[in-house]
Amino acid sequence: MWGGRFAGGPAAVMREINASISVDKRLWREDIAASKAHAAMLASEGILSPTDAIAIDRGLDTVADEIEAGKLVEDPALEDIHMHVEHRLSELIGDAAGRLHTARSRNDQVATDFRLFVRRCADETICGLDRLELALVDRAEQHAGTVMPGFTHLQSGQPVTLGHHLLAYREMLVRDRSRFADARRRMNENPLGSAALAGTGFDLDRDATTKALGFDRPTANSLDAVSDRDFVVDYLHAAALCSVHLSRLAEEIILWASQPFGFVKLPDAWSTGSSIMPNKRNPDAAELVRGHAARIIGDLVAMLVLLKGLPLAYAKDLQDDKPPLFDAHDLLALSLAAMAGMVADLEFVPARMRAAAAAGHATATDLADWLVSEARVPFREAHHIAGRAVAAAEGEGKALDELGLDRLTAIDPRIDERVLPRLSVEASVAARRSAGGTAPDRVMQVIAAIRADIAAR
Ligand code: ARG
Repeated sequence: MWGGRFAGGPAAVMREINASISVDKRLWREDIAASKAHAAMLASEGILSPTDAIAIDRGLDTVADEIEAGKLVEDPALEDIHMHVEHRLSELIGDAAGRLHTARSRNDQVATDFRLFVRRCADETICGLDRLELALVDRAEQHAGTVMPGFTHLQSGQPVTLGHHLLAYREMLVRDRSRFADARRRMNENPLGSAALAGTGFDLDRDATTKALGFDRPTANSLDAVSDRDFVVDYLHAAALCSVHLSRLAEEIILWASQPFGFVKLPDAWSTGSSIMPNKRNPDAAELVRGHAARIIGDLVAMLVLLKGLPLAYAKDLQDDKPPLFDAHDLLALSLAAMAGMVADLEFVPARMRAAAAAGHATATDLADWLVSEARVPFREAHHIAGRAVAAAEGEGKALDELGLDRLTAIDPRIDERVLPRLSVEASVAARRSAGGTAPDRVMQVIAAIRADIAAR
C-alpha cells in the first residue's frame, strides 16, 4: 500500500507485531457499511464516476457475502480488516477499487467503524439488561411477601421481603441501562471526512455519510475525531460498573446457596458437580460472573492507560483499543445471559429465609418504634429499652417475640399486650410502608409501576 516510499519489506516480527487482522476482523460489517456510504457520497459529489461507484458498491457486497460465508483469507501482510477488504475488492473489480480510499484515511475509517461497532454493542447490552430486569421483576412478584433477613455488616438487621431485595438489583440495572444509552448518544458522531488528521481538500458531503450510517452529526474537529476513544472508555465504564452489580448479585447467590444459608437451591442447569466429592453442587456460573467482573474492570483500566500519554493525533497504540472492548463486551453479554437464566431458575427456600429472618432479634427496632408511637417514649430511650429486652431474650436463649409480656413489662411498664403482634417478622415488614420500603403491598405497587415503565419503552 505504501510501496512508493519503501525499497525493502518489513521484518517478520515487524509484520507480526503490526498485524491486527486476527482481532479486528470483527469490524468487517461496519467497515463495509462505512465504505459503501463513503463511495455513494463520493459519487454524488462527482468525485467518483457512476460506473466506478456501482462497481465498488457491488464489489463490497460480494466481499461481505464472502466474509459472511467464512471465506476471509487472513494475511498478516495486509495488516488489518480495512486493507483486507480493500485488497479483496481490488481482486474482484480491479482499478476502481483504488479510488475508494479517495479523501479517506484508515484513521477516520477505523474511528468510524469502531464507533458503529461499539454503538451496536451498547444496543445489544441494553437488550441483555432488559432481559435480566424482567427476570428479576418476575421473581420479585412471586416473592413480594417472602420474608428474609435484611443485613447490614452481614449481620441480621431487620426483616425484608425477597421481592424488595431483588428489586434493589433492578434499580442498579436501570442506572446501567441509562449509562449505556448515554454513552450511545454521546458516541453517535461521524468521523468520516476527518481523513488522516487535518481534514481533506476534497469537497465532501459529511452530512450524507452521517445520515447513511445513522449518526446524529459529523464530528467537529478532525484531530479529535481520529484520536478520540472516549466512546470506548464510556462503554467500558458502563460495562465495568454493570459487571460490579452482577458480581454483587452473584456473590449473594453463592452465599445463599451455601449450606449455612440454604436460602436457595441451585438448579442442575446452573450448577456443576465435583470429580471427587459426590455431594457437591457448585455455583460455578455465579462464580464466573463474579470473576468476569475482574477482567472487565481490567479492560477499562487498560483503555484508560492506553490513552493517557498519547499526543494528538493518531498513534498505533490506538490499534490496541479493540481487544479490551471485544473482551469486555463478550464477557458482559455472557454474564447478563447467565444471570438472567439463574435468576429465572433459582429455587428459593422461603422457610429457611423466614427462620433466618426471625433469628437475631431482628424486630427489636419494631419494639422501639412501638414505644415511640404508642407510649410517646423518645426514640433514644426506646432504643435503650428495646436493647434491654434483646439482652434479656438472649440471656434466656429465646427470640424477642417469645420473651412474653411479663418479662417485657418488667423491663418497662409502658409496654402492653398490643406490642406482641408487632414483633413478628411478617408484621415488621408489613409496617415498613414508607415509599421505597419493603412492605409487600409497596413492593407490588412498585412492580406495577415498573411493568408500566417497561411497556412504555
Ligand atoms: N489497524 C489500525 C487501527 O486499528 C487502522 C489505522 C491505521 N492507521 C495508520 N496510520 N497506520 O488502529
